[in-house]
Amino acid sequence: MSEFKPLTTKELNEFKLLLNEYNDKLVRSSQKVIIAKAKYSKREITIDVVKKYEEEYKTAKNEFKYKVNNNIFVENLKHANEKLSNYSKNDEKYWEVYEEVKLAQFLLKESKIAMKDRGRGGELSKLSNTALKIKDLKFRYKSDHPFAVNGVNVEVNHGEYVAIIGHNGSGKSTLSKIIIGVLKPTSGWIEVYGNRVTSSNLNIARKFLGIVFQNPDNQFIGSTVRDDIAFGLENRRIEPAKMGDIIKKAAKKVNMYEFLDHEPLMLSGGQKQRVAIASALALSPDILIFDEATSMLDPKGKNEVKNIMVELKNTREKTIFSITHDMDEILNADKVMVMNKGELVKFGTPKEILSDKGFLRSIHLDIPFVAQVEEALENVGMKVSHSDSLEELVDKICQK
Ligand SMILES: Nc1ncnc2c1ncn2[C@@H]1O[C@H](COP(=O)(O)OP(=O)(O)OP(=O)(O)O)[C@@H](O)[C@H]1O
Ligand SMILES: [Mg+2]
Repeated sequence: MSEFKPLTTKELNEFKLLLNEYNDKLVRSSQKVIIAKAKYSKREITIDVVKKYEEEYKTAKNEFKYKVNNNIFVENLKHANEKLSNYSKNDEKYWEVYEEVKLAQFLLKESKIAMKDRGRGGELSKLSNTALKIKDLKFRYKSDHPFAVNGVNVEVNHGEYVAIIGHNGSGKSTLSKIIIGVLKPTSGWIEVYGNRVTSSNLNIARKFLGIVFQNPDNQFIGSTVRDDIAFGLENRRIEPAKMGDIIKKAAKKVNMYEFLDHEPLMLSGGQKQRVAIASALALSPDILIFDEATSMLDPKGKNEVKNIMVELKNTREKTIFSITHDMDEILNADKVMVMNKGELVKFGTPKEILSDKGFLRSIHLDIPFVAQVEEALENVGMKVSHSDSLEELVDKICQK
């Protein structure tokens, strides 16, 4: 008898992951074509560039069509049936092999579904309560550049709110781009909920993550707020019947429900960022990253967005990373990562981090306004215990 080893659900999931990888390539190359065509219409590039991307897209499509097939599952069922034909129903072994045939039939059926939805169903399970583990992570943009991220190690539990601070160019954005899989580590690795991220599962691992960027104007595609939130859902191939509810729920979470039919471009900066948060939330990521999401907003917008972040934190349903230059914001965090020249130089509670003001200043970081006031009071002989907000400090002073 042949050496054939029956396939299992493990191979099915691997097949889904592979489909996803190829689909990702396909989506990326189609996006390049769309962008190139838009640029060509503005005469920013030549038709040759558009043609080049169209060729790449064709190649990716062919690759998808010919390389990604479910032959192994067809063969698997054939083998199982052949094996079964060696036994009669009176043999004890018959029923054992019969189960193998049943499994092979199931795998073939599922592989067909996976081909249709391009592996959407591929899943990574949560193997650990550690939302993110980063090990000896290094990254440089070019081989002759210094490391923009230089040996970062950190572990963050699910539900924590972590602020990431550091002077300009300290590697904060680079780190976040590695976490969301836009940049590939030069060395070291990342685990998301216990799953080591590799090039083949990257696309599925991304389901755990969402990101909100700095510029509110660069995050819109749809002509209404509703369309905009729907866009990400369509990309994820979420069933249209489920979309309406998901969109409403996400918009309500950021207090933008009444604006669903408004045009995104007519909104204030704070409202735009709230829509960007809703778009991220709609995909129900377990980890949300804010890369200076409040830095381009006016004080009112800043507060709106910060309040949403605190509300999200209080549910403890999401793990939040917030890259920020706003030292007042770190008081909302459970933990603070301090980056300097690509290294994670400190990781601790806001209190621990703020206890060494000299250190923060040595790496060109300011201290929160409330801490500045405390320091100034101390310098004139008025010692007050540490406060997390200006209101708390004012209360303490009034009681003196
Ligand atoms: N696309 C790029 N190509 C080459 N070098 C880059 C690129 N992007 C960033 N860098 C460099 O990598 C280092 C880290 O930059 P990064 O943008 O991660 O810092 P940051 O902490 O986010 O800074 P900021 O607070 O200004 O946003 C810097 O030295 C920067 O010049
Ligand atoms: Mg940055």
